[in-house]
Amino acid sequence: MDGSDSLIQAARRAREHAVATFSGFKVGAALETAAGVVITGCNVENATYGLTICAERVAMFKALSEGHRAFTRIAIVANTDDPTASCGACRQILWEFGGDLEIVLANLSELKGTHRLKDLLPLPFDARLL
Ligand code: THU
Repeated sequence: MDGSDSLIQAARRAREHAVATFSGFKVGAALETAAGVVITGCNVENATYGLTICAERVAMFKALSEGHRAFTRIAIVANTDDPTASCGACRQILWEFGGDLEIVLANLSELKGTHRLKDLLPLPFDARLL
């Protein structure tokens, strides 16, 4: 995989739709289902700031709402030299609904790294503990 991977390209296109009115920090995500369907998301900010939702959660909630339940990878794109890794809230949601996803981090031109979600969220809390 390199920076031209089609999942990364999908995340770059999704990023163009970001509603980053307050931060100016646009993020795109592209979530791949086990069946190979790609569901995208972008961050959406609003005037209260606190109701902001990240690109990753938009993608996951869109996918779940469309009936998808099994996932393999998610690509996350921001316009940064250092990789933009998901925030804690997104790691939790991705773990609960996606399991040990491959996390593909990229910017507008390059692949910046791949990770397993279990390495980004060690010792997770999830429904198995309830
Ligand atoms: N953001 C994401 O959408 N995903 C990330 O992985 C990091 C942060 C968004 C939230 C907010 O709209 C903006 O980036 C700045 O934090």
